[in-house]
Amino acid sequence: MPRKLFTFLQHRLAGRTPRLLEPMPGDVLDAGIGDMVSLAPERVTEENVSQYLRSYAALQTRVFRERRRNLMLEEVDRIHLRLREEMQQKLDAFSLADRVMMPLYMGLIELPGQLIRVDFRSCRVEVVSEVRDLSRYVFLASAADIVRVLDRKLNWEDFLLSFRFRASRTPDVYDTSLHNFLAAEIEDLRAMCDNTLATESRQERTVVTAGGQRYAVNRYCPHQGADLREGWVEEGRYLVCPRHRWRFDLQDGGVCGTNGCSIKAECLGKEKEEPREASAERLPAM
Ligand code: FES
Repeated sequence: MPRKLFTFLQHRLAGRTPRLLEPMPGDVLDAGIGDMVSLAPERVTEENVSQYLRSYAALQTRVFRERRRNLMLEEVDRIHLRLREEMQQKLDAFSLADRVMMPLYMGLIELPGQLIRVDFRSCRVEVVSEVRDLSRYVFLASAADIVRVLDRKLNWEDFLLSFRFRASRTPDVYDTSLHNFLAAEIEDLRAMCDNTLATESRQERTVVTAGGQRYAVNRYCPHQGADLREGWVEEGRYLVCPRHRWRFDLQDGGVCGTNGCSIKAECLGKEKEEPREASAERLPAM
């Protein structure tokens, strides 16, 4: 709701007037005059956005329907085979496979009885007719969408951000290694694993002050290695990673409550009595 935000800012920024620019495809931002030249004939506003989305969806319906129908006739089996090969290649490059505790099932919506089961323990990929593990990650997508990734028109990370798939996990715990496996390209996986191991081997520690106590913690985030010295403390006990906002509970050994990853917090005792500002809960240097 940009308008709401700008109304709020106008109220708060006394003496300054922020401008809300809403460029549409076809508009020009003219650096010479420092302004936007409005050329697009069609403008989407808060008032007409619902109508715009409905008519755009109607316009695209035929495109997606035909794409699926053609694939059903000719290519779904081939896409399934390519997906299986892609998973095996990913697995071969994934040196952190032993960290993933559950198998991954990948399926095409058009082929419900042929799930690709990625077993991280044995480093094997096989086709099975149904989900047979209690603990598992299941990922389903349409062949029409997956083929765009296999054709390298879309990378895995962007595909995951597209939400054009269904995913479920049991137990409902985020697994960093499994997610990285899914999101990385084959050619990036080795480097990604090497970087993870290198970050971990640095084992650098830093000191955080929170709730009147000092804690020694791992300096680099176990998710993707962000520097936790740039983080901050919330509620007097949670150290928050600056990159994706994971919260590590300093009073519970530095464990992140949503996924069990830890920065190995160790209490060093009470903070020294010295005057400090209210915002001093940012990380001090070691
Ligand atoms: S790097 Fe992602 S939460 Fe820290």
